[in-house]
Parts: sequence; structure tokens; C-alpha cells
Amino acid sequence: MSGKIILGAQWGDEGKGKFIDIFASKAELVVRSQGGNNAGHTVIVNDEVYKLHLIPSGILYPETKNIIGAGVVIDPKVILSEMSGLESKGVSLKNLLIDARAHVIMPWHIALDELSEAARGSADIGTTRRGIGPCYMDKTERCGIRMHDFINKDKFIKKLYQVGEIKNSLIEKFYGGKALNLDDIARKYSEYAERLSGFVSDTSVAVFDALKAGKEVLFEGAQGTLLDLDMGTYPYVTSSHPVAGGVCIGSGIGPTLIDEAIGVAKGYTTRVGKGPFPTELFDDTGEYIRQKGAEFGTTTGRPRRTGWFDAVIARFAVRVNGLTSLVINKVDPLAGLPVLKLCTAYERNGKIITDFPADLDELAECKPVYEEFDGFDMDLGGMRRYSELPTSLKKHIEAIEHICGCPVSIIGVGPGRDQIIYKG
Ligand code: GDP
Ligand code: IMO
Ligand code: MG
Repeated sequence: MSGKIILGAQWGDEGKGKFIDIFASKAELVVRSQGGNNAGHTVIVNDEVYKLHLIPSGILYPETKNIIGAGVVIDPKVILSEMSGLESKGVSLKNLLIDARAHVIMPWHIALDELSEAARGSADIGTTRRGIGPCYMDKTERCGIRMHDFINKDKFIKKLYQVGEIKNSLIEKFYGGKALNLDDIARKYSEYAERLSGFVSDTSVAVFDALKAGKEVLFEGAQGTLLDLDMGTYPYVTSSHPVAGGVCIGSGIGPTLIDEAIGVAKGYTTRVGKGPFPTELFDDTGEYIRQKGAEFGTTTGRPRRTGWFDAVIARFAVRVNGLTSLVINKVDPLAGLPVLKLCTAYERNGKIITDFPADLDELAECKPVYEEFDGFDMDLGGMRRYSELPTSLKKHIEAIEHICGCPVSIIGVGPGRDQIIYKG
């Protein structure tokens, strides 16, 4: 059997979609196990750009089964629009499966995401406002609506009014917002449910059977390690578990069925939304990386914050995910910089720190310790062999391997499917 996890080793947007698409050519199944349409995964094939939010990035291969697991939160309107967008480009959805246990994002989740962020004022999290946090809150509160409820009209309507009336009173009385029209929601969402019902099943059976039969199963992480609810920079995190452990819970399989965990990082660091970021650059270099790397959110279009590669974070990601290898993606945007900096440790009150701190106040006092490498100025996009890369970049990559105690297997040199280098 071969269960392989591809996850984000930083704060998301590392290029997970590209690598899932690349590996999916050999996979029987691609599985999303957490998050929702806060994710934005880009796949580029023959100059056609696909931006996927909920549907797994293996969908472009007609024979690969694409599963949205129980741990994912699903906005029915968004998934239906993504489905029709793909169909209009000739992509078949015959192999798309949605888990019966997955929770549904309802309009009150989106309204409450907006209202709670506004109420936090300057202490906001900077969420994608897609209703992700409020939907996971209802799941743990045990008042959520799951796909199997959603596609059963009588059960759905009953739950909708039961939960919706409580949510409306929260919206109106606590936040001073405008109550939602539940009759309208009942009409529209019943229609969405009808259109989705044929895709719903217990997907953990298909995942288990494929793994037991020795087929390759890819688990597509969303977000990134530092956005994990427990392991990330809490409270500036998402409400699910992007770490490797989250895969088992969210897809309904046991840890003994996973063989590999591959962490994708960029050759620098980015972050969208608020929260600490020790190697953040506020100068021309940060802007240069943003422009060269086209660092603008796939989901919200927000400019991404940029900074140097942080090996303290990468080392942390290797540990908490049990990574078997690292991918260093997007090294091409670094071309043209006079110097490359690599954060090898933090310094706090005269002490060197190599383990990522839990306490954000402590983290705020950490100063990055940098090792410098010569810059390079050449287009890497056409390179396919490790030996072709500039010497200083190879030293930078090898220093990451050394600090993290984890091999780098692949280097990304451009957004296209073929723009990768196997390090060997
Ligand atoms: P994901 O959320 O991890 O799947 O990543 P996103 O799709 O949000 O962001 C990655 C962005 O970088 C997308 O626009 C990709 O097309 C682009 N990209 C991926 N790999 C590379 C690379 O090696 N070089 C460059 N320049 N761009 C890349
Ligand atoms: P992919 O899968 C980058 C960030 C948001 C915000 C925080 C909480 O494309 O890598 P949420 O809406 O989840 O409650 O927002 O998490 N965030 C992401 N940042 N990439 C993502 O997904 C993200 N999904 C959520 O910006 O800071
Ligand atoms: Mg993204």
C-alpha cells in the first residue's frame, strides 16, 4: 500500500496544488481531509490555470478518484460553482466523491465569520471570511449539519430551522446584525442538496480499499503547519488540522496506512492574514519577492506578506508532521537578489533558540539569526537537473537539509507541471 501525504510546511500557499497534480498522474485516489474553500490551490496545465478551492487537485486526471473527506467543511454554493467551472473546461466529475460525514457551511457561518472578525476590531485574525471557523465551531458544539442530513430533505429542513433560529438570534441580538431569511435559505439550499446528492457516500471505504489493494493514495493538505489549530501560531490559525495527523482523522483511516509525508515549502516564506512572522521583510526586498513570486492570495486576492526562508519553522514542520522529505518550491523568484538569507535559529535575550516557541509573546521577542549566501541572477525556469542550479542556491538548499535533518527531494523552478527538479 502507498499512502502519501503532501502538506504545507509553512503558512499555506506553498504550491501544494502543483505537486498533487504532478503526483496524481500515478495515483488511484486524491483525498482532501480538512479545511474548506479557504484553500486556493493552483494547477497550471498547458497555460490553462485552474484555481481549486474544494475539489482535490487530482481532478484533471479522468481516471483518478477525487475524494472530499469527512473532515472538510463544504460550502454547497461554492462547490457547485467550482464543479460547473470545471465542466465548462471539459473536466469530468464522474470520479468526484463527497463524504456523508462532512459538515456543510451555511449562510450563518459566513455571516458570523464576518461579524466576529468586525467585532474583534484591530485584534482580528484576518480570516478568509468563508465561514470556516464558525462551521468547525458548530461541529465541536455538535449542532452542525452534515452532508447526510443535507441530502435528506425532511431532516435538513428540520435542522435548518432549529439551528437557523438560534443563529439569527445571535446575529441580531449579540452582534446587532440583520437576521437571515430562513425560508429563502431552505429553498435555495434544498436545490443545492439535490444537485449534490449523487456525489455523497462513505468515502473512507474507498480510501481504505484502495490502500489495502496496494494502490497509490495521495492526501492533499490544505493550509499549512503553522496554521494548524494546535501546532500553529494560535490564535492566528485556521480551525482545522493541516498537520499530518489531521489526515487520519479527516479521511477516516488509521496512521498505520500512511507511508510518506512530504512537506512543501517555498524558497522564502509568505503569510496571508495576521499573526507573527519572524523573518518578514518590510523593505524593497520583500516587495521584490512579492512581485516576482506573484504573491497575491488565490482565494481572497490579498497581497501575501513575504520574508526569508525560516529553517526554525521548517525544522518544526519536519518534526510535528514526521516528514519523510521536503520540497523546496518557488526558488525561481529569488533570481536577481544580491544576497539570499536563511534564518538558521532565533536569538532571544542572548539565548539561541532552535525550537519554534508556543507562546506568541516569546516569539515576538525572537530575532532571526541569518546565514547569508550569494545571490544569483539567471532564469531557472528551464532547468531540469540539480547540477544546473547556481552553486549558492544549492548551498542554501543543502543548509536547509542539514538544519532540518530531512532530505530535499524536489525543487520547484516555475508554476508549470514540468517545472520541477528531482534532487536525487
Ligand atoms: P497552494 O495553496 O499551496 O496550492 O498554493 P497556491 O496555488 O495558493 O500558490 C502557489 C502559487 O505559486 C500559484 O500561483 C502557483 O501557480 C505558483 N507556483 C507554484 N510553483 C511555483 C514555482 O516553482 N515557481 C513559481 N514562480 N510559481 C509557482
Ligand atoms: P491553502 O490551502 C494561506 C489563513 C487566513 C487567516 C487564517 C484563518 O491555499 O494553502 P480561516 O478563513 O481559515 O479561518 O482563516 O488562515 N488561511 C490561509 N492562508 N493559504 C491557505 O490555504 C489558507 N487558508 C486559511 O488567511 O490568516
Ligand atoms: Mg493557496
